Amino acid sequence: MEPLARRLLPAVKSLEKSCLLGETRKLKECSRSLSSQEVFARESKYGAHNYHPLPVALTRGEGVFMWDIEGKRYYDFLSAYSAVNQGHCHPRIYKVLVDQAKTLTLTSRAFYSDLLGEFEEFITKLFGYDKWLPMNTGVEGGEIAVKLARRWGYSMKGIPDNQAKVIFAEGNFWGRTMSAISSSTDPQSYAGFGPFMQGFENVPYDDLDALDKKLADPRVSAFMVEPIQGEAGVVVPKEGYLKGVRELCTKHNVLWIADEVQTGLGRTGKRLAVDHENVKPDILILGKALSGGFYPVSGILANDSIMLTIKPGEHGSTYGGNPLGCRIALEALRVLEEEKLAENAQRLGKLFRDELRKLSEDKVTLVRGKGLLNAIVISPKIDAMDVCLKLKDAGLLAKPTHGHIIRLAPPLVINEEQIREGAEIIKTTIGNF
Ligand SMILES: Cc1ncc(COP(=O)(O)O)c(C=O)c1O
Repeated sequence: MEPLARRLLPAVKSLEKSCLLGETRKLKECSRSLSSQEVFARESKYGAHNYHPLPVALTRGEGVFMWDIEGKRYYDFLSAYSAVNQGHCHPRIYKVLVDQAKTLTLTSRAFYSDLLGEFEEFITKLFGYDKWLPMNTGVEGGEIAVKLARRWGYSMKGIPDNQAKVIFAEGNFWGRTMSAISSSTDPQSYAGFGPFMQGFENVPYDDLDALDKKLADPRVSAFMVEPIQGEAGVVVPKEGYLKGVRELCTKHNVLWIADEVQTGLGRTGKRLAVDHENVKPDILILGKALSGGFYPVSGILANDSIMLTIKPGEHGSTYGGNPLGCRIALEALRVLEEEKLAENAQRLGKLFRDELRKLSEDKVTLVRGKGLLNAIVISPKIDAMDVCLKLKDAGLLAKPTHGHIIRLAPPLVINEEQIREGAEIIKTTIGNF
């Protein structure tokens, strides 16, 4: 038996004993009064072991805070991987969710609904594209972006059948489907899951010379890249990289797909991360904060010359574009705009990094990021998971990514006093190592 399961065994036994009492009502009561240890044990026993969560059992969220089932309050410095930019349980988004859930939730795309067009008009005008194609999760947004780029490659660029190539930056992360892991350079994502999707190639991130050479191949239909690589550890490219990507894609008649699932929607201090260099991708993927943490909504934006190469019946999703999702996403975008969350992220992100840079270099070797998408690189002498466990004890939740890097990304509704308090918790905790 593996160590975690062995450690949790007593809690599982106690859970089983109390739940053996029988009837449904007693089971419900039992689940309401579980301890954190019992929550961990139940997930470990009945759930697949495809995650390694921090040992904290959360039950409530509001704004920048979450509470565990014992009532302890934490600052959330992960924001569900940037899905909760608007803060937990934002009252405006909650209200439209409840109202819409009483009215109409799902029609499928076999019929029209009164909300899809309203949302499409809003989002296309906001971002300046002709069309929106709705999906649900971020990875599905990536899937359709790649599929659409292949179709465009055949029908518009004249790439011979089945020879289209899509280029991905090394270190990319866009999810866990077979296509996403086929483009991955991280063995933890792809190893043991082959065979992989054909026609995918990699190029070093933040290297315009290498990209220029790659895109010269006439069979390349698209280059897909994150403006800042989130899962890779908040890797910020050199200034001018995004402009260079735009120029090279135009030069070689290659579509630029920007994956802004994590960086978009105010997170980096602008509405989109590409706005820092005033450039416009051909296909833009959005997700996560598009629904403020309430419900999965994703999709892609593109102009007609690209989007209309896909015809009825060639792509779809039962839930994609449903009325409930549209209503939530409309409100989530309005909240981002009206509460000026990008501006807040820009101002407080700078303050936050300035505070963290006061940590001694023998403990934190690098502080990097843009807006409120930040990471610290911990000295190899210190274990990043240990730091996160101590941060949890001190009332702040964050998670390591790639061993020695800790991503720090609070909800964008955080205020100055709260970000200063968060920075103090981090400085004190790491200072004690
Ligand atoms: C840049 C990026 N793209 C796509 C995804 C996939 O999103 P989802 O988990 O909603 O499928 C992620 C998830 O972390 C991401 O960071």
